[in-house]
This record gives sequence, C-alpha cells and structure tokens, in this order.
Amino acid sequence: MTEPEPASARRPIGVFDSGVGGLTVVRAVRRALPGEDLVYLGDTARVPYGAKSPRTVERYSLACQRFLLDHGVKLVLVACNTASANALPALREASPVPVIGAVDPGAAAALGATRNRRVGVIGTLGTIRSGAYERALAALDPGVVVTTLACPLLVPLAEEGWTDDEIAEAVARRYLTQLFAADPALDTLVLGCTHYPLLAPVLDRAARAVAGHAVAIVDSASAMAEAARAALHAPGDNRRGAPGTLRCFATDTSRLDEIAPRFLGEPVDRFELVDL
Ligand code: DGL
Repeated sequence: MTEPEPASARRPIGVFDSGVGGLTVVRAVRRALPGEDLVYLGDTARVPYGAKSPRTVERYSLACQRFLLDHGVKLVLVACNTASANALPALREASPVPVIGAVDPGAAAALGATRNRRVGVIGTLGTIRSGAYERALAALDPGVVVTTLACPLLVPLAEEGWTDDEIAEAVARRYLTQLFAADPALDTLVLGCTHYPLLAPVLDRAARAVAGHAVAIVDSASAMAEAARAALHAPGDNRRGAPGTLRCFATDTSRLDEIAPRFLGEPVDRFELVDL
C-alpha cells in the first residue's frame, strides 16, 4: 500500500510576477516538477514594476503574495526579479510558508558557472538599483567581481515578440558593449529578469561577439525551478504522478492571449480576472 501524501503535498505552488514574464518561471517549474499544481498571478494592471520605487514594488508584491496565500499555496515563488530584489524580506516576514525569490538561486547558479569569478548581471532598473545581486553574490563568495547594467528596452522587445531579429540583435549588442566595457573579462552573464530567457539566444550571440570569448548564460527562471525542487523534494525523489494543473490569474487581461504563450511556450487556457 502506498503511503498517503501529506496534505501539504497536494497544495499548489504559488507563483507571482508583475505581469506575464513570470510564466518563464512556470515553464521551468513545470519541467522540473511536472506533478505539482500551480497557481499563477500576473499583476498586469500594474506592470511594469521595473521602473517603480522600492516602496511601491514592496506594496504591490505583498498584495500579490496575500492573494496566493489565500489560495492555500504551500510555497511562494517570486518570479519577478524586481520584486525579489526589492521586497523579499517583507514577503518572507508576511508569509507562513517558504518564499523563494529569483536573486539567490540566480546568484548561486552564476557562481557555479563562472571560472574566473567575474560575473555580469542584467535586469530592470529597479533590480539593478537595489544592489541585490551584488549582495547575494558577495554573501556566497566575497571574492567575486560583479558588474551590473539595467537594460530597460529588453522587456518591451520580449513582449512584442521581437526576440530574434536585427532589432533585438542591435539592442543586445549595444547594452552588452556597455557591460563588457566595464569588465571585458566577464565570463558569466546572469539574465536577471523574467523576460530575458526569451532573448537568451540573441544575448548569447551578442555576448560572445562583444567579449570575443565564451560567456556562460545563467537564467534565473531555471535556477528558481531547481530551488523549488530542492525545497519540496528530497534528492533522488522522482515521483511522477498525474501532470499538475495550472490556474492563471491576472489583474488585467488586455493582450494576454497574444503575449502569454510567448512566455509559457504553449497556449494558456484562460486567465481569471482579479482585483487585488
Ligand atoms: N518581471 C519584471 C522582472 O523580472 C520585469 C517586468 C517589469 O518591469 O515589471 O524584473
């Protein structure tokens, strides 16, 4: 006879983001933990968080987390890098369940990838201004040299679906030229934003062209999914039950049919409209 699963195992994992970009984290979590039920909230009425002040980002993030906790989630994943960088302590304090942000897993993955301890991080203005990646990387390795750059044009490019054309290429080159001018020896680049995994091929090509050497690309969405797996399952635990369900909520539904599948990699059944 199989042991009944503890009640908490059947509760969903909650994921929130400022918008639909966090579906890149959902995609990575579904790959890493296919049996888990997920509840996703995109705060599409108030996106973008990237240009807003830390206090506003914290306030919005707490409201998103409250919504997920009201849905009985057993774990909160803060898919939004800007929210993770600016609101994680407040979110953890307000949550009875574990809260995983994007920054620590991304920083740990970067240290796993770098050979020369020279790491670049790109993200929204709010993420870069917070200094969260520098702090997380220094906490894990005080000797690491970190160079950061805000790349605000990459989010609208990803939402528009212009991810692999000459415009994306030119924008990526321009930003990365600036980043590598600050430290030409960077061997690892952290994609510190929900949207950037969609631009990974173009960023990879641009980084190699600008640097003239190989650059490891670390995507915080995959790193978060691994952190969620580590938090929920013991090593070697490969239980695969029925595929998990995905329920999606948004605070505004305009253009979601068009944009959301780009991030999830498949059509989204429907978004339920909520007011936080
Ligand atoms: N989700 C945000 C992040 O990962 C990007 C979009 C926004 O600015 O809200 O930082």
